Amino acid sequence: MTEHAMSDSSIQFLATQEELSGHTSFRIGGPAEFFFRPACRPELVRTIGRCRRAGLPVRVLGGGTNLLVSDRGVAGAVVATTAVRHMSISTRAISAECGTRITQLVKAAAACGLSGLEPLAGVPGTLGGAIRMNAGTGSGCIGDVIDEITVLAPDGRLQNLRASQAGFGYRSSKLGDCIVLAARLKLQLSEPERIRRAVLANLGAKAESQPLREASAGCIFKNPAGDSAGRIIDSLALKGAAMGGALISPRHANFIVNTGWAASADVLALIELVRNKVLHATGVHLELEIDVW
Ligand code: EPU
Repeated sequence: MTEHAMSDSSIQFLATQEELSGHTSFRIGGPAEFFFRPACRPELVRTIGRCRRAGLPVRVLGGGTNLLVSDRGVAGAVVATTAVRHMSISTRAISAECGTRITQLVKAAAACGLSGLEPLAGVPGTLGGAIRMNAGTGSGCIGDVIDEITVLAPDGRLQNLRASQAGFGYRSSKLGDCIVLAARLKLQLSEPERIRRAVLANLGAKAESQPLREASAGCIFKNPAGDSAGRIIDSLALKGAAMGGALISPRHANFIVNTGWAASADVLALIELVRNKVLHATGVHLELEIDVW
């Protein structure tokens, strides 16, 4: 690991050339020029401020579970939020910081008899990333349970936003350049056993239909209105199609899996192939659900 010292007039801070393949569920991605993993929320805010003042492009990395990173890596700073994960629970709410894992939230809510997060059972990644893309499943999304979000605005100010100000849509938000720092989730009191059963049912359904043991970024494409991208891709007999080390999962056609040696370019080529075939056969333009760096 090479260490770089970087300074903005007053402060010197350390960063490392860090291979991002170790931080993504795809297991793909070259080095970040500067990589930070702040230990707490104030340090996260300071790090982002310093990088911005130093004129570095800043990318925020949550769980890296919905992300394809180029093998060439990325210029500027990557700031990982996974250590910023304080969580507190009250009668009908959970407040949590951006790096909190969704699996942790689902588990804590179930243990305390708080209902509302069951649809997110099995959704990987962190709260911050989930809020940005309004992650969810067919039965609900994170936006449904958000009460308030604390963000770092592009001008460096901290702001509290109501859920209605986040502009949640299907796998999208309008948070733009605002960085999610924390959120309060509003939940309902219910029987822990009932919640646990719903969580287990959702986990089971996912395990049945998705290639959860393989390296992937979850669903690659958003579902087009009224249909499922997986169903369409499957209907064109594309399961098992491969480009280099990237493969359309034989289990679920909207998943591309890394068979162990996939280059980012292999995944991109497979995405293009699928898009072209789907457009040609159905007239549907599939939109990416994953982020590409
Ligand atoms: N289907 C096929 N072939 C396939 C995949 C699906 O025919 O290869 C059919 C299924 O049989 C079913 C329909 O398509 O009739 C829908 O499939 P599924 O229930 O798997 O749901 P999906 O629309 O493909 C969505 C989310 C998933 C989420 C599941 C379960 C999107 C893009 N995908 O998938 O989210 O886990 O519902 O709730 O919204 C993700 O966002 O990364 C993700 C995996």
